[in-house]
Amino acid sequence: MTERVALTGVAETMLATLYGKALQSRGPSPLLPDEQAERAVERIDYDFAKLKIDTKTALATALRALYLDRWAGQALNERPNAVVLHLGCGLDSRYHRIAPGPEVSWYDVDYPEVIEIRRRLFSDEPGYHQVAASVVDPAWLAAVPADRPGVIVAEGLVQYLTRDQISVLLTRLAAHFPSGVVMFDAWNSLAMRSGTRQRAIKAVGAQLGGFGINDPHVIEGLAPGLHFDTEQTFLNVPELARLSKPSQMMFRAMDRIPAVRSMGRLLRYRF
Ligand SMILES: C[S@@+](CC[C@H](N)C(=O)[O-])C[C@H]1O[C@@H](n2cnc3c(N)ncnc32)[C@H](O)[C@@H]1O
Repeated sequence: MTERVALTGVAETMLATLYGKALQSRGPSPLLPDEQAERAVERIDYDFAKLKIDTKTALATALRALYLDRWAGQALNERPNAVVLHLGCGLDSRYHRIAPGPEVSWYDVDYPEVIEIRRRLFSDEPGYHQVAASVVDPAWLAAVPADRPGVIVAEGLVQYLTRDQISVLLTRLAAHFPSGVVMFDAWNSLAMRSGTRQRAIKAVGAQLGGFGINDPHVIEGLAPGLHFDTEQTFLNVPELARLSKPSQMMFRAMDRIPAVRSMGRLLRYRF
């Protein structure tokens, strides 16, 4: 049975990350095996070719997801009864990849049109919930337990939010839980300027939020209570050894230019 999807703009971008993960997973010795992504791509009736995802983009998507999985897994080891908010989840199967312990409550949150498709592929189960809402809508958070540590993960989301939305959202989330950790990928202003030229973003006509994060500490000023913990860049990671020698040399050269190194990176904050 195939699933028809009719998405536009930012909601449609989740088909690009899904396809990147599936493509990478299908290849020999995948970095991030993701059978759920492979199965979803087979079931969804959509012209994935129009997104022009090549093997390098697929690798970059899988790398970002892999490192976020590691951070999220580590955060859950430290907080076995955490409440996870996976914001802008798209069709990502992080819940199934991480397989959290029984004390964890997990909330996958995305726009109603995305969650409607998601529900055709994944069912709610004890401890696992899919929430159909804009992440910036304050209403849905009322149903989320507030008496346990929070683990907040957002992959491919923050670049679509404005500076004010990021500030209000992170401030609200940090106030909701007694303590916790927030992790997300962020673009700097150089990436924000060139982002609209990215093939998948252009293909779906998604609007970027316009706020480039050059200094991770700027978030501490936007969301009081958050403390910058660490960052992860990707131009120097051991997993790049699977690329050709010329590509590796190119990434090493790019890594030496600070503004290029921090075009796309993971940031982690504690509260
Ligand atoms: C690039 S996709 C990433 C999807 C998924 N995290 C992944 O890595 O495969 C961006 C996702 O963020 C969602 N998104 C963007 N703005 C949102 C908002 N204000 N509220 C809820 N979801 C949002 C989109 O619908 C889309 O699913």
